[in-house]
Amino acid sequence: MPQVKVYRSGMLIARSDPAPGDTVLKHLSDSGIFLDAPCGGRGRCGKCLVRLSPDGVEVRACQTVITGDTDIYLPGEMEMEIAGDTKSGTDTPPPAAAGGEPLGVAVDIGTTTVVAHLTSLRTGGRAATAGGVNAQRPYGADVISRIQYCASNGHGQLTALIRGQLRGLIAEACADAGADPRAIEYIAIAGNTIMEHLAADLSPAGMGVAPFRPLSLFGDDTPVWEELGAAPGAAVYFAPAISSYVGGDITAGMLAAGLEDTEGPCVYIDIGTNGEIAMKLGDRYLCCATAAGPAFEGAEIAMGMAAVQGAVNHVVWEDGAVKFTTIGGAPAEGFCGSGLLDALALLIRQGAVDETGRLLSREEASGAISEYLESKDGKNIFRLARDCKVYMDYADVRKLQLAKSAIAAGIQTLLAHAGIGEDGVRSFVLAGGFGSFMDKDSAAAIGLFPKVFLPVTRTVGNTAGEGAALALCSAGARAALSAMRERCGYIELSTSPVFNEQFVEQMMF
Ligand code: FES
Repeated sequence: MPQVKVYRSGMLIARSDPAPGDTVLKHLSDSGIFLDAPCGGRGRCGKCLVRLSPDGVEVRACQTVITGDTDIYLPGEMEMEIAGDTKSGTDTPPPAAAGGEPLGVAVDIGTTTVVAHLTSLRTGGRAATAGGVNAQRPYGADVISRIQYCASNGHGQLTALIRGQLRGLIAEACADAGADPRAIEYIAIAGNTIMEHLAADLSPAGMGVAPFRPLSLFGDDTPVWEELGAAPGAAVYFAPAISSYVGGDITAGMLAAGLEDTEGPCVYIDIGTNGEIAMKLGDRYLCCATAAGPAFEGAEIAMGMAAVQGAVNHVVWEDGAVKFTTIGGAPAEGFCGSGLLDALALLIRQGAVDETGRLLSREEASGAISEYLESKDGKNIFRLARDCKVYMDYADVRKLQLAKSAIAAGIQTLLAHAGIGEDGVRSFVLAGGFGSFMDKDSAAAIGLFPKVFLPVTRTVGNTAGEGAALALCSAGARAALSAMRERCGYIELSTSPVFNEQFVEQMMF
């Protein structure tokens, strides 16, 4: 029987026996070691790199089958930005006491990260928070890859992964707070419709093919599953979804962002691999979802990466030169979403990307920016600095252009349905991690949203977890979430002539 040894930073961290025919990626995942695998192991993204000896060449973990004794050397620790203790407002209740109180858990299951807040059901105070990279990540960076995996292999593996992760996070938070998981009586979960299906042990496969039907739109209590280790008789609440691609994370997020208290017109947007967009108008809501693709998350971009150590997160043009920063101040390894957005805005402003989205050659561009343009394998690229390995190529610009066009066209379609112009919008709410970290001026410069939104833009961070916390502690909040769904109209963009027309129009820079 072959043996596998796994090393990180030179230290042996695991020793195990692989199943016959396992790839390195599958074996690591089965061993509870999660490697970034944005394309879900289809061999397309080239991001699941490991070495099989300390100084050996990098190989793609998803394409490498273990055939004998194998040593696996992992890249550095993956540190994701986790939305932790971000309870907003000034009336934060006191922390929960460790013993004897009924406890609850508010959970935000994102496609990328999962966060659990252990909370006192009596005071609403947060006792502890635990979070991590979504354990399903080896099955793809985006929900489409995970749906495809479930369609071919069933959803059992992904359900087991998320349930195992939730159990682990709850145990971690309980250990931090000195609490017993069996004191947990209620759990409120907010996630996109696919993540909620998987946590609820329902197949998301139907959402991957027309007519894109979910098995449930949630919004009710279900009995807790035994392996979570909570109190017997505890219940799990899933925030109500509106459609396959506008989920409980959006209803919960809108509640936490206070949309119920605004008259509107207000536009709320959460940009990830999908762009979910909602509008509040009087007491009605309209919403839609656009397939922006994973470009804004750095996936399927030549030098894209997650927002971890070494990712270029900010790029500006200053004193006639490119200046950039990286997460953690580490040497630049690639671009994360906010860096990509800044770089593209810079190229547009400096005239190195024309209005059709073409990245010019050094000869075609004028001014100091031409110093940063090169030809690589016969294609135009923009390199951050002469001695820097990080660059953006013409194809990256195209992918970002498609993504921004999808979002911008979604916004225009909602405006058209509501019958209001861009300048009629009173407030523009940017939710989600990417919305918080991106530079608003860069986003407006590439045309992700109209420039007239800038003065009324508000960033609210990861509101899904906040919405889950409200739902956890308040029957009124749960009733409000159900009522929001009843008052929300859904626009299917794939069959909308307005969207199709706008998608072409918004391609221009
Ligand atoms: S190439 Fe291996 S996960 Fe994408």
